[in-house]
Amino acid sequence: MKRFHKYELTKILLNVNRIMSSSLDLDRVSDTILKESAKALNADHASLFLTNEKLKRLVLVRAIGLTGDDIGNIKLLGSWEVINSHVVKRKRPLIVNDVTSNRIFRNKNLPFFKEALPIKSFIASPLKSDNSVVGVLIIGNRKRPGHLFTRKDVKLLAGLSNYIAMALLNAKVYQRLKDLYVSTVTSLVRAVDAKDRYTRGHSERVMKYALAIGKEMNLDKETYENLRLSSLLHDIGKIGIKESVLDKPGRLSRAEKNQIIGHPSIGTKIVESIDDFHNIIKGIRDHHERFDGKGYPGHLKGETISIEGRIIAIADTFDAITTDRPYQRHCTEKEAFFEIINASSTQFDPQAIKAFILSFSKRPETWRSTG
Ligand SMILES: [Fe+2]
Repeated sequence: MKRFHKYELTKILLNVNRIMSSSLDLDRVSDTILKESAKALNADHASLFLTNEKLKRLVLVRAIGLTGDDIGNIKLLGSWEVINSHVVKRKRPLIVNDVTSNRIFRNKNLPFFKEALPIKSFIASPLKSDNSVVGVLIIGNRKRPGHLFTRKDVKLLAGLSNYIAMALLNAKVYQRLKDLYVSTVTSLVRAVDAKDRYTRGHSERVMKYALAIGKEMNLDKETYENLRLSSLLHDIGKIGIKESVLDKPGRLSRAEKNQIIGHPSIGTKIVESIDDFHNIIKGIRDHHERFDGKGYPGHLKGETISIEGRIIAIADTFDAITTDRPYQRHCTEKEAFFEIINASSTQFDPQAIKAFILSFSKRPETWRSTG
């Protein structure tokens, strides 16, 4: 039987630490913790429950080695609640090598007995912070039949748990900061949109459309997150333009036109001054570039335009066409759709257009300007 050494514990901690230092993303950190712990205990299932402050109870945040149906069963039948409340109450790990004969599970309605869950044995370890339980980590089932969880496994998991609790709390705090950050940026953007009576809600709709396209393009997580903020902030440069120019129904003078055309560059300057925003500059700078090189401010062509800029260009145009503007009444979503796909390869990136078509046909509700 495999035994665990300090060496293995160190290896797992180092792996978790590596992910922690490269990303504070809660999903990634949770995923690494589950995979590493399951690997260390030679198990094929791991699930992580964390305290939800709003609901004031533990909720399942991630599981590996279970099917969607299994997870449905967990939520529905509450078997894990029995385990969790046991662990939370005692603040000690629980080892069960045969759920069918364990005294905790005398309630015959639990899915273990109906074999609804493919778990026969498990270790549940409390994740403690300041002596209170903030979560429970459950590692279940041996890959090799006949193998039982041992006291050594419990020890290993208990050793890991303290570190995991700290890692998760850091990721959670970071997530909360990120949410706060996005809501602060949203208020700022609303203030900019409110300058122009025609563009109320514009930036948030553009973000919704841009993310829908980004999803179809399978962007990596970092680019997707950059797209989120850069689409939301794409018109931040309009902060420096007078309402009378933004709202003007008639023809614009050359000077006024120059002011409008200057907003991607002004936006770039605004975000350049903020350290954390350097990743979102491209999307703001490039959202009026055209695929054929006839856009502004850089007259960039093809893929020299950032992917964020190419996507925001479609999202921005879709919103401009489907909402009233000083110079035009709005078109229907369908009319906007055809107008945009007609400009594939000239104004817009054909790859991003492909994703736009897919999203528009699969999820038309996303592309409703009132939604
Ligand atoms: Fe713009």
